[in-house]
Amino acid sequence: MQQRQIGPFSVSAIGLGCMNLSHAYGTPISMEQGERLLLAALDAGVTLFDTAALYGFGTNETLVGRVLKPHRQKITLASKGGMAGVQFSDGMKRVIDGRPEALRRNCEDSLRRLQTEVIDLYYLHRWDKAVPIEDSVGALSDLVKAGKLRAIGLSEVSAATLRRAHAVHPIAAVQTEYSLWTRNPEIAVLDACRELGTAFVAFSPVARGFLCNSPLDLVALDAKDIRRSMPRFEPANYAANLGLIPAYLALAREAGCTPAQLALAWLLHQESYIVPIPGTTNVDHLTDDLGASGVTLAPDLLTRLDGLINQKTVHGARYGAQSSGEVDTESF
Ligand SMILES: NC(=O)c1ccc[n+]([C@@H]2O[C@H](COP(=O)([O-])OP(=O)(O)OC[C@H]3O[C@@H](n4cnc5c(N)ncnc54)[C@H](OP(=O)(O)O)[C@@H]3O)[C@@H](O)[C@H]2O)c1
Repeated sequence: MQQRQIGPFSVSAIGLGCMNLSHAYGTPISMEQGERLLLAALDAGVTLFDTAALYGFGTNETLVGRVLKPHRQKITLASKGGMAGVQFSDGMKRVIDGRPEALRRNCEDSLRRLQTEVIDLYYLHRWDKAVPIEDSVGALSDLVKAGKLRAIGLSEVSAATLRRAHAVHPIAAVQTEYSLWTRNPEIAVLDACRELGTAFVAFSPVARGFLCNSPLDLVALDAKDIRRSMPRFEPANYAANLGLIPAYLALAREAGCTPAQLALAWLLHQESYIVPIPGTTNVDHLTDDLGASGVTLAPDLLTRLDGLINQKTVHGARYGAQSSGEVDTESF
């Protein structure tokens, strides 16, 4: 497996997004299946594991912490705070809260659930627009000084917010959605990362399964599947987007790789400081995804791929109104 650098950490060029083991797509899998997947990733050479306080409202960190504890020294453990589950009278709800006291609380909860004394990379999951970014990053910086975090990241921020944050404390990584069908980071964030020496961690890199040639039965999607709220997965848009797939599959055949590998290899070819973190619940899919590390794409094929699937050829926005309002990235 190729290695890439995130701040002080040398990590596998493809990391594992662990969210899917607890929520997001379809029915959650059992703890045993989750454990099997995490250990298979470790065996295959994955050293970057990505979780968050939000995922499964803490259950994801608990799973990751329990399974990876014996391997803690061999991995780079990344988690996120500033967007977590809060108990209300009518149940748990997701709340964005970037106040210093909330971040300190989130960090303590994450450390306990992850069964570790220090988290390698801790992201502000969303910028809380009611709190100056300097205050949130200042609180995370204090947690670095206190030895509870090793490095700081931001998720879904604009280049301007990244620069303001970086002036307070070096930002080791920005984690934002990036794939053939979501190009927003190309507007300004990738350039800012290059200039500041910040790694870019690409989430949803296989387009939430769209680029894996496993077409969905939208009617049968689980009631809690987050794709239900995403315009690109609305029936008319999804049908139009599927129209791009035959030509995409032809390019994968030409490259001698699978569709998921084509999506991930495309990302690895964009910049040397990009680290994709696909998520999967399935060991065969994991093996497939990690195979992208060895795929080389010719310049001419990259150009045709770029032209085939991009923000102009895809139908529907990536997020619905609520999630769009919560992010800070520049968008086409
Ligand atoms: N910072 C943020 O705000 C944020 C937001 C979203 C996600 N993330 C992180 O990014 C990670 C990845 O993003 P994501 O899970 O949203 O999207 P993704 O990795 O683009 O797609 C995941 C989906 O693709 C399927 N899949 C993956 N590899 C496959 C393969 N080789 N063949 C067939 N299907 C495949 C998975 O199904 P199977 O389970 O069946 O393989 C799953 O439904 C998350 O786990 C999380 O850690 C961060």
